[in-house]
Amino acid sequence: MPVITCIDDLKRIYKRRAPRMFYDYAESGSWTEQTFRENTSDFDQIRLRQRVAVDMSGRSTATQMIGQDVAMPVALAPVGLTGMQCADGEIKAARAAEKFGVPFTLSTMSINSIEDVAEATSKPFWFQLYTMKDTDFVSRLIQRAKDARCSALVITLDLQILGQRHKDLKNGLSAPPKLTPSTVANLMTKWRWGLGMLGAKRRHFGNIVGHVEGVTDAANLGAWTAEQFDPTLDWGKIARIKEEWGGPVILKGILDAEDAKMALQVGADAIVVSNHGGRQLDGAISSIKALPSILDAVGDQVEVHLDSGIRSGQDILKAVAMGAKGTYIGRAFVYGLGAMGEQGVSAALEVLHKELDLSMALCGQRRINDLDRSVLMVPEDFGGRWQ
Ligand SMILES: Cc1cc2nc3c(=O)[nH]c(=O)nc-3n(C[C@H](O)[C@H](O)[C@H](O)COP(=O)(O)O)c2cc1C
Repeated sequence: MPVITCIDDLKRIYKRRAPRMFYDYAESGSWTEQTFRENTSDFDQIRLRQRVAVDMSGRSTATQMIGQDVAMPVALAPVGLTGMQCADGEIKAARAAEKFGVPFTLSTMSINSIEDVAEATSKPFWFQLYTMKDTDFVSRLIQRAKDARCSALVITLDLQILGQRHKDLKNGLSAPPKLTPSTVANLMTKWRWGLGMLGAKRRHFGNIVGHVEGVTDAANLGAWTAEQFDPTLDWGKIARIKEEWGGPVILKGILDAEDAKMALQVGADAIVVSNHGGRQLDGAISSIKALPSILDAVGDQVEVHLDSGIRSGQDILKAVAMGAKGTYIGRAFVYGLGAMGEQGVSAALEVLHKELDLSMALCGQRRINDLDRSVLMVPEDFGGRWQ
């Protein structure tokens, strides 16, 4: 196994091993990718306050997210097509998360199904729901997540319609990949991926194919998803889904204080400050810049989580010290998965944990729940003066 010292090491191996179509799918933002870039560069603007001569023994990164114990304030974000980055990718990522003691969130658009992941794991995971026009299908998904003992429903609000990612259109993204001369040429250089895929449990969208009448393959499915995401989603519908689910609900994709207040009104157990990793509204503010105003608006009434741009334990420390009760990683675990399967996801979690733990120590901090803004040096105009 190569020596892995940072998330970028995993990204380099991932780029070599995964088919270009799936690497590009993960490593893209929408349109000009401004928001995608700023999600990471805005973290860099915040500095950590070094403290010395503080007893740093007996440290712990353990805490809770929505009342559930977590080894560190990190969950695996829902990522569509994870099972195309590596054979049985959702199962492998869920197992690594379970071993590490952090939540795994299964996307509606996963390759392994809810049932596959439930069968392969022993602790409850979280299920992410895209709301669709076919309300019977949504109800069946909710029931399947209940039957699988999922312990939270993450409802994604920022993808009623799809932001354009140029590379996906140019690459003809599909699951499984369509065999054109250029994909075949690229796949021939990815023998490790191909061998894995030969033995994969699934190569189609496991939550959908076979569960919706008339959807039997990827071609049908593309047309189906384009017309199925519900453009009429509103707060009333969200409240009804919450009622139908009956358990903890996390509303994902909040980037504005007014929306955070609405999420509070429909009774969210937590919200995720997120711009979908810069994949939806290009030109939107980065999540870490949006966080302070949302915390000011609702932070004392609902648990506020954050994703988009986290690539290091220092980033996690910054988000939590600013007031987020938890964070999610998308690409950081995908890089690990595409590089080395389950072992790679474990490596990503270990890297982040070590960075978080050591950086906390160097800031003179021993407990996650003691972190606050005094650990940070934030530029005066960080939130920006927007008209
Ligand atoms: C390849 C990819 C696929 C994604 N698919 C989904 C999805 O199916 N559902 C969802 O709610 N979010 C999805 N997201 C967004 C992630 O849940 C998360 O918000 C984002 O990755 C966080 O940014 P980061 O990648 O910089 O950590 C996806 C992100 C990526 C990179």
